[in-house]
Amino acid sequence: MTKSLEKVVSLCKRRGFIFPGSEIYGGIGGFYDFGPLGAELKFNIKQAWWKDIVQMRDDVVGLNAAIIMNPKIWEASGHVTGFSDPMVECKKCHQRFRADFIPAGSGDFMNDSFFDCDKGGKHEFTEAKQFNLMFKTFVGPVEDSASVAYLRPETAGGIFVNFKNVLDTMRVKVPFGIAQIGKAFRNEVNPKDYIFRTREFEQMEMEFFVKPGEDDQWFKKWVDDRVAWYESIGLKNIRKFEQPKEELAHYSKGTTDIEYEFPFGWKEIEGIANRTDFDLKAHSNGSGQELSYTDPDSGEKFTPFVIEPSAGVDRIMLAILCDAYNEEEDRVVLKLHPKLAPYKAAVFPLLKNKPELVSKAREVYSLLAKNYSLGPIAWDDRGNIGKRYYSQDEIGTPCCITIDFQTLEDGTVTVRDRDTTKQKRVKTEELNDILK
Ligand code: GAP
Repeated sequence: MTKSLEKVVSLCKRRGFIFPGSEIYGGIGGFYDFGPLGAELKFNIKQAWWKDIVQMRDDVVGLNAAIIMNPKIWEASGHVTGFSDPMVECKKCHQRFRADFIPAGSGDFMNDSFFDCDKGGKHEFTEAKQFNLMFKTFVGPVEDSASVAYLRPETAGGIFVNFKNVLDTMRVKVPFGIAQIGKAFRNEVNPKDYIFRTREFEQMEMEFFVKPGEDDQWFKKWVDDRVAWYESIGLKNIRKFEQPKEELAHYSKGTTDIEYEFPFGWKEIEGIANRTDFDLKAHSNGSGQELSYTDPDSGEKFTPFVIEPSAGVDRIMLAILCDAYNEEEDRVVLKLHPKLAPYKAAVFPLLKNKPELVSKAREVYSLLAKNYSLGPIAWDDRGNIGKRYYSQDEIGTPCCITIDFQTLEDGTVTVRDRDTTKQKRVKTEELNDILK
């Protein structure tokens, strides 16, 4: 089935997953807000990643560094001079475009209405010039060049500058990793494709420090592990793409992207890079601090190489939503992996105006809702049962539990499966186990 992005966008707005940022003030390009269900879905993605990368391993620890850091960090990392995209400007209306988004060649593309200028005719572009993507701000009350700071363009920086702190305080031995989830900011020239390319987004990054010479084998292992993680959360339609040498970031010896087939084509959702010893050496030079490692067994001293799996939460969320979206004859259903679904189950009294059904349904709801390990449970007593099923299918709730007159007699309820729509009767006492 070819899925249209418009349908996913419409569902996300209608059902409280994603709202345009600052909407009541006319919006702001490249920023989005996540509604009640979007916040749950995002939380579940991050939790699945954190569990897999940090909590279920003994060789990775977590970190939560500041977003605004000493600007010298971004000088040492190369971002102040090198983190830019080529940009052109229309000489008439002064709108700006990423030069590499404009197709090369004969210029026939200019027939596209995208290139119509508000001032009449077609855009007339300037020569391309480099545009730095970092957002600038000032720290403290004085707005001068000495107080300039940047919103971090990637979370990785906070990890590198805490390498020594973690080494000195935790019992870690190379090979080991430091992982972080957090916001990153890029003043993208052309934010586009909904939440795919935005100016504020979240990253899940891990820097894995290894002995030089062992980097190639760890790189391969992390690519395989990351592909397996996507499979574990039910994401289909992914592939690996090895970046050509000429497109590698300034710090990378090799990068493999994990791509998803979006309605607008195959695009990167995560990159796994071999960052070599570039960052630790750059921050050692920039700060004057020793950022090497001494092997406690052999006494050998070296600057570790770094393998970095770097994933975007928002892009993964969009991939998951596109993948899960299904239109069937009489319903729209989000076939989300239960681990990711905002609600794990929904509880309904068959009829709203029968107090004995409502009170029994409330009892069942409380029994499930207080079981923290299950996750949030929805309550719905509006409209008829068919509409309630439709409504829960659309937001991906894996099962619906209905309390009817038979429940009052024998304590059984009906459980309806989202994907098959099949129903079965089970005892109330069995519900916790069934949902697990
Ligand atoms: N530390 C390496 C790094 O930041 P990147 O390829 O620039 O590498 C990593 O970004 C991931 O962050 C991407 O695969 C993507 O998922 C996400 N990402 C990057 N820029 C983004 C943007 N403007 N909007 C949404 N996600 C973005």
